[in-house]
Amino acid sequence: MKLCLKSAPPETFATPCIVVGVTEDGPFAPATAAIDQASGGAITRMLASKDISAATGKTTLLYALQGIAAERVLVVGFGKLKKLNGSSFDRACLAAGKVLRNHPLKSCHVCVHEVEFEGCDFSWRLRQAALAIHRANYLYTATKKLQDDGPVPLELASFQADGTYQPQIDRASGIARGYDKARELGDLPPNICTPAYLVQEAREIAREFDSVALEILDEDEMARLGMNALLGVSRGSTNPAYLIVLKYSGGSSGQQPVLLVGKGITFDSGGLSLKSPDNMTQMKYDICGAASVMGAFLTCVSLGLKVNVVAVLAAAENMPDGNALRPGDVVASMSGKTIEVLNTDAEGRLVLCDALTYSERFKPLVVIDVATLTGACVVALGHHASGLISNDDALANALLAAGEDIVDRAWRMPLWDDYQAQLDSPFADMQNIGGMSGGMITAGCFLSRYTEGMRWAHLDTAGSAWKWNEKEGATGRPVGLLSRYLMAVADGETS
Ligand code: BES
Ligand code: MN
Ligand code: ZN
Repeated sequence: MKLCLKSAPPETFATPCIVVGVTEDGPFAPATAAIDQASGGAITRMLASKDISAATGKTTLLYALQGIAAERVLVVGFGKLKKLNGSSFDRACLAAGKVLRNHPLKSCHVCVHEVEFEGCDFSWRLRQAALAIHRANYLYTATKKLQDDGPVPLELASFQADGTYQPQIDRASGIARGYDKARELGDLPPNICTPAYLVQEAREIAREFDSVALEILDEDEMARLGMNALLGVSRGSTNPAYLIVLKYSGGSSGQQPVLLVGKGITFDSGGLSLKSPDNMTQMKYDICGAASVMGAFLTCVSLGLKVNVVAVLAAAENMPDGNALRPGDVVASMSGKTIEVLNTDAEGRLVLCDALTYSERFKPLVVIDVATLTGACVVALGHHASGLISNDDALANALLAAGEDIVDRAWRMPLWDDYQAQLDSPFADMQNIGGMSGGMITAGCFLSRYTEGMRWAHLDTAGSAWKWNEKEGATGRPVGLLSRYLMAVADGETS
């Protein structure tokens, strides 16, 4: 879907659907007032008769409203003004977007960002409305064609604003492109989206943009580097592993790059520590860390942000086999540290540790890894926040702020030394599991041993990266948070 700006008198604008907002207690926004007046007070009357609800996220679709050029008017509720905030604004816009997608419309004109409330200015509301409408419009079509009686995605959404807001809508379009890429990679089935497929995707990006260089490390190359932890995970699979390194130089040549590292397990069976059937059905989504890193990278590159970024994707499949890692095996990671693999299902940290060690050579400004790493993260935070662990307060705060601003939130967990002892092993420098308690934190502790000397943050997206047990699929998160952070770095808002 294309996003654009258009400043038009709402009542005379010919569009399949015009989208306006109402609150329970505030004045009408300009477009809402214009529609109300031109229709002889129709909105006012229907609010009074409760045919229109102004509650948060409630939508009313009106057909052929007298005096209005648009074929339909979609009225979106934003609730009580005092309670309206970034998060509830986003939720209501998403609900509007779902209605738009589920009706046979090819285009629409959106005015909901005219609804004013404290704390979020027009530019912010415009960007968020555009992102939410776009997000709601996503429909997976790679292996299932559009159905005759099913949803019809929009091709174009225009937003009521003048040309001075072009930079905002451009940024929204760039972020939207990153989200789409991440969602598509997450949703693709694991028989199609293999490590080699991820390599192809990276090649496409490198081909499209001159500012991007690509390096692919195959298993031989990784063996030479001593990446035995990563290779151990891949050993049971017939699909070879790859370390994919995408480099973007948008900043000056001396500028240290932001390093993004993604867990790209294209399918996580658990390995010999086999998952139960129930726990395995959704494990194609274990690629979502790498998918979101690739998405945010694409956002950054397509917007030409003035920042240097290196994306390192650890792409592998975790399968049981006669050649697979066994519980009890000890592997030497690239850093030289040895790991007793007590559970082959704790494979994410094994691929990440070698990817993180590899990242050191780029002398990064910061390194941020993204992974669907632990079920424990979901127990702790549910599906609304990504889990954040970091050894650097400034970086952690910048990431939290980025997530808050773009409504793709994270919540920080501690990285206290107290937890480290849970990884002690009599047979190696560490073991790869830390027991039941604090599972997200001990996974972070494991990774922290590979990031000493770097400013590092870890985002556990096990709960946020896809809609669990819903027929909705990948969310693309945290493309928004990462993109917003990269913008902050590019714009000099954070260092
Ligand atoms: N990919 C999973 C984490 C996961 C589990 C994400 C469920 C989303 C939903 C990861 O590789 C894993 O299996 N983690 C184990 C670690 C445990 C063995 C220490 C887990 O969380 O159960
Ligand atoms: Mn696993
Ligand atoms: Zn996994």
